[in-house]
Amino acid sequence: MEQIGALKMRYFGRKTASYYERMHNVLLPTTIEDFRPVIKSAKGVWVTDVDGNKFLDFTSQVGIVVDHVSEDVVSAVQEQASRALGIISNDFQFASVHSKGILLGEEVSPVKLAEELIKLTPVPYPKKVLFEVSGATAVNAAIKICRAAQPKKDCFGAFEKAFHGRHGPSLDISSSKLIHKFLHQESSQVIRYPFPNANMSLDAYKKKLFYAPPSDIFNAFFVEIVQGEGGINIPNLKALNWLHRLVKSIGGLFVVDEVQTGLGRTGKMFASEYLDEPPDMIVLSKALGAGVPIGAVVTRTDILPNGTIPQSAHSGTMPACPLAVAAALANLHFMQDEDLVRRSAEMGKYLRSRLRKIADSFPVITDVDSLGGLMIRVEFATKMAADKAIIECLNQEPGLLLIEAGDKTIRFMPPLTVSKDEINLALSIFKKAIQTLV
Ligand SMILES: Cc1ncc(COP(=O)(O)O)c(C=O)c1O
Repeated sequence: MEQIGALKMRYFGRKTASYYERMHNVLLPTTIEDFRPVIKSAKGVWVTDVDGNKFLDFTSQVGIVVDHVSEDVVSAVQEQASRALGIISNDFQFASVHSKGILLGEEVSPVKLAEELIKLTPVPYPKKVLFEVSGATAVNAAIKICRAAQPKKDCFGAFEKAFHGRHGPSLDISSSKLIHKFLHQESSQVIRYPFPNANMSLDAYKKKLFYAPPSDIFNAFFVEIVQGEGGINIPNLKALNWLHRLVKSIGGLFVVDEVQTGLGRTGKMFASEYLDEPPDMIVLSKALGAGVPIGAVVTRTDILPNGTIPQSAHSGTMPACPLAVAAALANLHFMQDEDLVRRSAEMGKYLRSRLRKIADSFPVITDVDSLGGLMIRVEFATKMAADKAIIECLNQEPGLLLIEAGDKTIRFMPPLTVSKDEINLALSIFKKAIQTLV
């Protein structure tokens, strides 16, 4: 056991310790913490660290996997790597027909992936796709599309505690943590609105909303339907739908950032399906590439002059690279074959109800909630209690990987392939951890 602050942390083994020693010498700090295991391999819901310790991963690596190392995705990526790997798809498109696996006989190309996303997304207007490499760059691309749609309007709306990325305009519209803004130069005009929390009535929300968006300059509202980094904040859908109508009534665009909620995470393919009216744009990343970096904006085109953006106004070297496209297409097939959206809804209900039972016996847990699916908020009385619960879950064998959100919330986000037995095992680890808090 080692000590971090007031918390006792398990010694994972010699290899982990030596890895972190080297890490501190060569990597500038990001959000990495050296109390976590160093992962060697992963499969399904399980990860193994470099010292051979096993953990259930109830983070899905902050939502980037629906399943660890799905063989369907791996084989599609391998086949693609042997066909065409280094193609700059913004200059030279590629199209390869796969000869085996889940994509047998199918064309793997940016066009095919765009066609799939156009079919899947609940934006019932003429629409097109712009690919990017990550969540933040996709949000930045979405902001460019908004500017192309309404060039004279340069003011954006976003929620308190919003998180949309750590680069340029995506960071301008974020506000979940002050430290994110350190070293950042703001460049966009942003009006900040309170998030319509589930525990707030529509009337209370209307009172809290001091000012309506100014119609002459207001371009678009960027929304996470369930706030991820900000604390797994669950909306009052009535209030969110009311705000959506308000934005539309003054000519604003409504852009849903589904970087964390997309691909079945909330028990529907897209959290946007919880809205009364469809959004104008959906931004995707994380789970889309099953671990291979990709971002995408699916936008209606009838908001754009001549239905498009100017040629060469946006591009890049790596968006929709061959590995990412193959991974995303295989991942979408895999999700469909395994019925993962339904499973997410079903397992999410089960996990939430079991977590609520635990919360009933442990007042240190102050809230358990979700919109649906496997993106569940477990709020603690204090940040110290949440941090300790995370450490105590890592300290057991097998351990349980959890990650915080906001100030004092833990997010439960297992891979969508999680079974009831795995949920039960994770909960028994979690319960033991909570018992150490009282
Ligand atoms: C809702 C949301 N938007 C955008 C981002 C940024 O994505 P990336 O880290 O890929 O830039 C994230 C990342 O956590 C996110 O949760």
